[in-house]
Amino acid sequence: MYLSSIALAAVLFTGVQAHFQLQYPIPRGPFVQDSEPTFCDGYNDAVSNRTVFPLSNGIINLNSEHPLWTGGVIVSTYQDPNNFSDFNSSSGYQMAVQFFQQSGEGPYCFPIDLAAAGVSGIQDGANVTIQVIFDGGDGILYQCADLTLSANASVPAGTTSSCTNVTATSTSTSTGTAASSTSTSSAGREVQVASGFIVGVVTMMMALLPVL
Ligand SMILES: *[C@@H]1O[C@H](CO)[C@@H](O)[C@H](O)[C@H]1NC(C)=O
Ligand SMILES: *[C@@H]1O[C@H](CO)[C@@H](O)[C@H](O)[C@H]1NC(C)=O
Ligand SMILES: *[C@@H]1O[C@H](CO)[C@@H](O)[C@H](O)[C@H]1NC(C)=O
Ligand SMILES: *[C@@H]1O[C@H](CO)[C@@H](O)[C@H](O)[C@H]1NC(C)=O
Ligand SMILES: *[C@@H]1O[C@H](CO)[C@@H](O)[C@H](O)[C@H]1NC(C)=O
Ligand SMILES: *[C@@H]1O[C@H](CO)[C@@H](O)[C@H](O)[C@H]1NC(C)=O
Repeated sequence: MYLSSIALAAVLFTGVQAHFQLQYPIPRGPFVQDSEPTFCDGYNDAVSNRTVFPLSNGIINLNSEHPLWTGGVIVSTYQDPNNFSDFNSSSGYQMAVQFFQQSGEGPYCFPIDLAAAGVSGIQDGANVTIQVIFDGGDGILYQCADLTLSANASVPAGTTSSCTNVTATSTSTSTGTAASSTSTSSAGREVQVASGFIVGVVTMMMALLPVL
């Protein structure tokens, strides 16, 4: 376990071959390829010019550079979340969009209903930060966006005009990349995908421990 974790950590830190770019909402700062494997793409602090974002009927638009990938979104209600713990409750990540698996490269859109996330403090007028987590099979990547939630805001016209809808299904039909699972347990796809992430995140945390 430890040896394989160290080997995986080495892979994570010697380079990710492809990435993703958050298109909407606007991320904390311009995309930095080399920083994307780290917290918020290397941007540690919240910006003051937040995007006014729908409390319920939000949309995420991201550009995938991987043919098969897993995506998910976590949320923090801190004014300036600057580490992964700020996105956690006592039971782990505060999920705003459960992990899903999707095939295809290019712009993809999916809905996000923050009001339904069940996270205390999410309400009309609240400042929150979302962190998009993306795994195309060669490392976990992160981008953040700082938001002010509004019950009557809607996404700008054109946000979804050039993207493909994510069509995550309840059964995995993929065939064996690192991000996929071939298990058919009744626990369900999301749990399997999430467990893959947790292994990756724990591995990354272990790798980071010496520098913290
Ligand atoms: C939200 O953030 C903005 C900019 O950082 C700040 O001016 C405002 O006071 C914050 N609002 C709340 C409710 O904390
Ligand atoms: C905040 O302002 C900076 C500098 O003008 C700009 O590059 C960035 O896109 C803005 N962010 C948002 C979320 O509007
Ligand atoms: C994360 O940041 C918060 C403040 O935003 C701080 O209280 C906490 O100690 C930090 N946790 C870690 C693990 O660095
Ligand atoms: C946050 O929760 C995730 C999911 O349970 C866990 O893997 C991670 O270690 C936690 N991180 C921190 C900093 O508590
Ligand atoms: C949203 O509601 C607030 C207060 O209720 C109002 O000031 C604002 O103009 C509304 N915005 C839109 C886009 O309707
Ligand atoms: C994408 O999904 C939205 C709702 O989530 C829907 O309104 C739209 O028609 C869908 N687009 C396509 C091309 O299926």
